[in-house]
Amino acid sequence: MPDRAESSAIESGLHERRLFSPAPEFAERAHVRTLDEYRALHKRSIEDPEGFWAEAAGHLEWFSPWKKVLEWKAPDAKWFVGATTNLCHNCVDRHVKDGHGDETAVIWEGEPMQPAGPETAHITYADLQRETAKFGNVLKSLGVRKGDVVTIYMPMIPELAVAVLACARIGAVHSVIFGGFSASAIADRVHDAKSRVIVTADGGWRRGKIVPLKDNVDAACTQIDTIDHVVVVQRTGEQTVWHAKPSDSHGGKRDHWWHDLMAAADENCPCEHMDSEDPLFVLYTSGTTGKPKGILHTTGGYMVQTALTAKVVFDLKPGEDVYWCTADLGWVTGHSYIVYGVMPNRVPTLMYEGAPDYPDKDRFWSIVARHKVSKFYTAPTAIRAFMKWGEEHPKKHDLSSLRVLGTVGEPINPEAWMWYHRVIGAERCPIVDTWWQTETGGHMITPLPGATPTKPGSCTLPFFGVDAAIVNDQGEEQPLNSGGLLAIRRPWPSMLRGILGDRQRFIDTYWSRIRNDKGEPYYFAGDGARRDEDGYFWIMGRVDDVINVSGHRLGTMEVESALVSHEAVVEAAVVGMPHEIKGTGIAAFVTLAPGFEASEALRTALRAHVGEEIGAIAKPDQIRFAEAVPKTRSGKIMRRLLRDIAAGRADTGDTTTLEDFSVLAKLRESEES
Ligand code: WTA
Repeated sequence: MPDRAESSAIESGLHERRLFSPAPEFAERAHVRTLDEYRALHKRSIEDPEGFWAEAAGHLEWFSPWKKVLEWKAPDAKWFVGATTNLCHNCVDRHVKDGHGDETAVIWEGEPMQPAGPETAHITYADLQRETAKFGNVLKSLGVRKGDVVTIYMPMIPELAVAVLACARIGAVHSVIFGGFSASAIADRVHDAKSRVIVTADGGWRRGKIVPLKDNVDAACTQIDTIDHVVVVQRTGEQTVWHAKPSDSHGGKRDHWWHDLMAAADENCPCEHMDSEDPLFVLYTSGTTGKPKGILHTTGGYMVQTALTAKVVFDLKPGEDVYWCTADLGWVTGHSYIVYGVMPNRVPTLMYEGAPDYPDKDRFWSIVARHKVSKFYTAPTAIRAFMKWGEEHPKKHDLSSLRVLGTVGEPINPEAWMWYHRVIGAERCPIVDTWWQTETGGHMITPLPGATPTKPGSCTLPFFGVDAAIVNDQGEEQPLNSGGLLAIRRPWPSMLRGILGDRQRFIDTYWSRIRNDKGEPYYFAGDGARRDEDGYFWIMGRVDDVINVSGHRLGTMEVESALVSHEAVVEAAVVGMPHEIKGTGIAAFVTLAPGFEASEALRTALRAHVGEEIGAIAKPDQIRFAEAVPKTRSGKIMRRLLRDIAAGRADTGDTTTLEDFSVLAKLRESEES
């Protein structure tokens, strides 16, 4: 008899070999209808990228045309050179100008549940034009100029979309920080971006409780002294403490209510003419070393690729679709596929404030039914949680409006894929498993729902213009079905343009590992992958020290630094471990300072400490106390050994008190050397 792990592996092997073709009645009406059509378009996009992308760009509005589509001198790309445009114009003003001002741009649902139902709002393009213009003027009145960085730390409320788009409108660069990050994480990011203004809220609702956003901002401001203004949306009505400007001893205000400033703001604020390569936003993400890095995206190319991918991958059609991406705007998925890619397609985008299980585990499905959501985009970690909660929750609701289901953020295990397909998609909705990254800005490898037959667990084939390959360090393509590094061999429009303030790290991280025989660098994604006999891509996970916890990226070193900043810890080693819901959980091995005893209370304190240093998502699932962290003779942490121990594949005997790795480490060292 195979054991449970074995039979589940056999089952996923069977699922992986299944091929699901789009239903003919769906495919007939899709933007891309057949695999042959996809292949022809992909071929063209690779042979003539400039022609292909120029045509795509033609569907958006520009204030002045480009002189050249692409200028590429590795690792620097310029797309739509010399053109000017504005993202807010293409997301909002353009639709008003074309007579669609009274159509819904954003559907919003708050978390609290009243007897009559939840609080909801429908915001039209005309509303958004007025609000972004007013908030653009508010930012200007606070001294924000084109190119300045505005930090946004908000719950998922309509004002968040307004704030982001208002920045784009006036040419300010936004840095959105996920509301789950701690005060220290805010302080690090504000400091790195040299930002002087923060937009936040008195709090946000999450699982029936208030997340104290303004308190976190206040705490962050005690660690940095560069913030001149904090704009606060009143969301919960919780008391907030009001602060004066640190630089102003005469009682000048630092904190302002959003509604006070908006009441006085002028409605006239034309969209700034932005150069195609002017920065649009910076978004912090974790890497192998050091603190999170600010990934920089610019205007024109980002706009073109996110708008085209949103249209083709979700098969968006104005007047037909209601689109919902469940991500928070604090992640790249929210940037590209709640706002910037979706809105130019004139399809309403839904924002939900709260948790998937509040007040009950059917909340998402009640939202789908209430708003007749047709395109739904979520993460494997959520799907695994839904599986665990049981089919009865989605079964309570009418999900017949759904047409396309998407997944992103981490590899999806075939069982979760099958459940999504069967229970949510009623075996009728194509699933698009989209591989991409904060750095890529938009989708890179993904099925097209009317064209690409899918296999559970595979993100299938590269998007148009994307030259993806599985290579070794020399850039040589690897044989089918043998793993290698996932590389992108040519520039794409929405690629990152750099790491804020750190040119060398940009080059070292992405453009140094893989070089072809001509010495040209390929983009190194940090993922391992393989291609199967049909050319389909299968992502195998990170090859660096980044772990993907519930689809959120964390650097093991970041968590280690947080742990050693606690007085009880002298050394820490952090590795990923398999986790039923999160995909990857966090296991930490810590060595204690003299005078500290291993205990359950210390474990709790260390978890809380990591929560304060980074945020709740970084709290270790397992903390093990060790005599010493096992290292090779050259001083490298033996991570493979630690991963085996954390996964239960190797036993050190005692897991409650101090672990002695010396014997195991010796064995492993002889294996490794
Ligand atoms: C992983 C999220 C497998 C991958 C958009 C990547 C995926 C990292 C997929 C980027 C997918 C994302 N299948 N793995 N469909 N999508 N990943 O920057 O390891 O938060 O490198 O961007 O998530 O995470 P990030």
